[in-house]
Amino acid sequence: MTFALGALVLSASMGALSYFTTRHFLVGERESTAVHDAVVNAIFVSQNLAAQTTDIVQILTTADKITPNSNSHSLLEERGSVWYERTFSVTQNEIPASLRSLVLSRGTPGSQTYTFDGRTQIAVGIPIKSVQGAYFEIFDVSQLGHTLRVLALALFGAGVVTTVLGAALGRWASGRSLRPLAGVSRAAVAISGGDLGTRLVSAAGDPDLAALTSSFNRMVDQLQERIEREARFTSDVSHELRSPLTTLAASLEVLEAQAGSLSATGRRALELLSADVRRFQRMVGDLLEISRSDSGAAEVSLEEVDPGELVRHAVAAAQRSLPPGAPAPPVVEVDPAVAGTHLWVDKRRFERVMSNLLENASLYGGGATAVRVTPGRIDGGDGRSVLVSVEDAGPGLAPGERTKVFERFYRGHTAFQRGAGTGTGLGLALVAEHVRLHGGHVWAEESESGGAKFTIELPGQLAETDDDHELAQGGAAP
Ligand SMILES: Nc1ncnc2c1ncn2[C@@H]1O[C@H](COP(=O)(O)OP(=O)(O)OP(=O)(O)O)[C@@H](O)[C@H]1O
Ligand SMILES: [Mg+2]
Repeated sequence: MTFALGALVLSASMGALSYFTTRHFLVGERESTAVHDAVVNAIFVSQNLAAQTTDIVQILTTADKITPNSNSHSLLEERGSVWYERTFSVTQNEIPASLRSLVLSRGTPGSQTYTFDGRTQIAVGIPIKSVQGAYFEIFDVSQLGHTLRVLALALFGAGVVTTVLGAALGRWASGRSLRPLAGVSRAAVAISGGDLGTRLVSAAGDPDLAALTSSFNRMVDQLQERIEREARFTSDVSHELRSPLTTLAASLEVLEAQAGSLSATGRRALELLSADVRRFQRMVGDLLEISRSDSGAAEVSLEEVDPGELVRHAVAAAQRSLPPGAPAPPVVEVDPAVAGTHLWVDKRRFERVMSNLLENASLYGGGATAVRVTPGRIDGGDGRSVLVSVEDAGPGLAPGERTKVFERFYRGHTAFQRGAGTGTGLGLALVAEHVRLHGGHVWAEESESGGAKFTIELPGQLAETDDDHELAQGGAAP
């Protein structure tokens, strides 16, 4: 816009300047030619009038032929009478009144350019003292007006072209200068999405851009280093805490075996201590797992599995880890449309995901009411994701909590109800981490019964059908 506006202002001012200068010059030149012609003719008329050889009309007609190049007409005004040249097509009324009074009354020669009936004309008046009258010559300079109109049109066209070119140049230049910024924005999005390995590639031959690229890359280097240092710290701390905790747990088991010999208060204290040590052990285990995945050290061993089988196995395994007395998870419902889709999954991590979701459903939602496996999005030509959802009919999650529950150490309002257990708020953060390692994602919403519904989307692959095999083999056969 600025380029176009600049081009418009520049071309308009240059155009106006050229037009008015040219006009001034052309009109001035035409006027002086007219005055020169008129003076020559006036002298001729004056001399012939003095000689009084022929009649006035004849003198005027001959006078006009002395300067044949000019398209003009002459007339003589003398004591109230007017004589015209023979082929005269204008009247003395066409001469501006101011010029007539100047020449006739004050006896001063003069000229004037004016427009009459759409035509541009120049009138020149010269007093002739001998007859106490005046000689007038009217020049038709419409051709000059036409030339000026053509010039104005050409300048206007040039202005439009310049403005359009300015706009095109501006668009090209801004696109070119903003292109590197698009790269920076893409890199920033990738980094904020967790891809800390993203760096900008420096474009050769652009020192401004090279400075931006190197400072951006340095910033990401430092950010990555800091994140990795913090992840290593958490991982080291959890690691260091594990051995004393194992010793503590083993010692507690010895004490529990002899709990009978303790007093009631001692037994109560022992129970509290073992519950907390177990909780502590679990938290340290979870932290260790999360920090491994943060520092990029998580090992994922993927196996090709059938989604229905996978979920059934994981639910059965999770059931064994549920607290005693917890309601049994429902039968897994597998949508037939999922058949033929294969998943690449780390079974241990997936079992952990299902056990965390089912444990939450049992602690905060009165037990899971449905576990479903359904087809998800078609992704490209040969990919179809699979959705695994766990629903309950409990109090559910407030809309504002649905993304927060995946944050580390976040415990929702349901965590503080009676009998809800003593979680640490790491369960769902770990679920999100495990799912992310599989290239999938997880979200929470409201179930049909008003409780909570957690859904995991895992990228899958459509298995080749037997038909495909036959086709492929048939095609390859000679
Ligand atoms: N099915 C559910 N219904 C209602 N609230 C839930 C449900 N699942 C999770 N929440 C809420 O989300 C919070 C976070 O869950 P998360 O599993 O991450 O932590 P936790 O269960 O409190 O602790 P942890 O699982 O680490 O022992 C819980 O404290 C609870 O308030
Ligand atoms: Mg939990």
